[in-house]
Amino acid sequence: MAEDTLTVTDNRTGREYTLPITDGTIHATDLRQVSAEEGDGGLMSYDPAYLNTASCRSAITFIDGDRGILRYRGYPIEQLAEDATFLETAYLLLEGELPTATQLQAFEDEVRYHTYVHVNVQKFLEGFRYDAHPMGMLLGAVGALSTFYPDAKEIGDAENRHLQRVRLVAKMPTIAAFAFRHSRGLPYVLPRNDLDYIGNFVNMTFEIGGRHEPNPVLQRSLEILLILHADHEQNCSTSAVRSVGSSQVDPFSAVSAGIAALYGPLHGGANEAVLRMLDEIGDTKNIPAFIEQVKAGHGRLMGFGHRVYKSYDPRAKLIKRVADDVFEQTGLNPKLEIALELERIALEDEYFVSRKLYPNVDFYSGLIYQAMGYPTDYFTVLFALGRLPGWISQWEEHLSDPEQKISRPRQIYTGEGERPYVPRARRG
Ligand code: SDX
Repeated sequence: MAEDTLTVTDNRTGREYTLPITDGTIHATDLRQVSAEEGDGGLMSYDPAYLNTASCRSAITFIDGDRGILRYRGYPIEQLAEDATFLETAYLLLEGELPTATQLQAFEDEVRYHTYVHVNVQKFLEGFRYDAHPMGMLLGAVGALSTFYPDAKEIGDAENRHLQRVRLVAKMPTIAAFAFRHSRGLPYVLPRNDLDYIGNFVNMTFEIGGRHEPNPVLQRSLEILLILHADHEQNCSTSAVRSVGSSQVDPFSAVSAGIAALYGPLHGGANEAVLRMLDEIGDTKNIPAFIEQVKAGHGRLMGFGHRVYKSYDPRAKLIKRVADDVFEQTGLNPKLEIALELERIALEDEYFVSRKLYPNVDFYSGLIYQAMGYPTDYFTVLFALGRLPGWISQWEEHLSDPEQKISRPRQIYTGEGERPYVPRARRG
């Protein structure tokens, strides 16, 4: 019977080493025994951007990039998007099981109890410029929450961690809505306990003069989009939350690191970049020239490609269906025609096909958010609201994992050898 081991020969010494294979991996620290000379510290693995390195064990999300499979705690994303609420999905990610009706009601009540933020958070937000990017505001305000809840530092207490996770799920929509109102120069609308999670967020965002007529189709569409964004295993922002959280800082600070990572145009900022790209293209007749520019290395087709999905991102398929429902309510977004033609051309072009570049979650989501009335620079805030349950579930899993300790990668030193200090008078 074949053994789960890897035997390697170090040709520098002729010595053979047999390394155990567990879960399809070798432990990088097992490489330290492969040494060419006394005191060289043995081999390390080198993997910039972690293209082929597992950083943790996780039971939260499963992705099969080749088959376009995405499951939260084993449940296919297609079924959750069809039947679950966002808080139900958040509970599933956080607790590992779908909640009973009683458990869900209790969770909804807990969240509803914590939707207010300290009035000083409102003053903090008022300090931003009128044109401040809402992701920068969210980043700052969520980090600042750590100063309002100093008890959040007690990360060794499971009940305390639960309370902070509830606070984040409850307060991020409030802060996000306040950032939206700030950008419009409108007074903040406070949370209402008679509305559900999505309804409350939409009301805090769009209420004018004490009124906002909710559109149930648009609210359900927004809820599905948040569900589709809720977790995605070890993406850039989740890895940031885990790494920062590994220092045992409070969860508000760890989540603000995730918000910072998501802000980048290669990650969550891509949905905003897609709309700017469609604006730049302007008309379907300009698509061939734009594609040639991309193929020549001048810029990227934003919303295309993925580190893991080498087939169509299953979320993009579902988002396209949501788009139909939304545009039925709001009228067709004229940029949709450009997006569909851009996708058609790209999927027939060898450059993209050979690199397995397909639309990802960001390609269509921005078109829907725009049709819902959100400005382009607000799209990534909506992504963050969706991703929050994933971040804090992964944060909790990391802290509870006995194999984990503070993240501290090694390096290959490429700098100068030792050299003596040169007095200023004798330089240059
Ligand atoms: C998200 O990790 C996650 O799970 C992220 C996410 C989540 O839910 O958390 O799914 C959300 O971030 C989705 C991705 C959103 N970003 C974009 O849409 C930005 C555009 N896409 C790319 O920049 C890129 O595809 C990435 C960042 C998504 C993935 O990059 P990789 O895996 O590091 O791939 P790469 O940059 O090494 O590219 C491989 C090749 C290169 O060409 P060659 O050097 O081999 O000639 O493909 C090319 C790249 O130039 N390429 C693209 C391209 N993406 C990759 N060329 C044109 N347009 C693109 N979009």
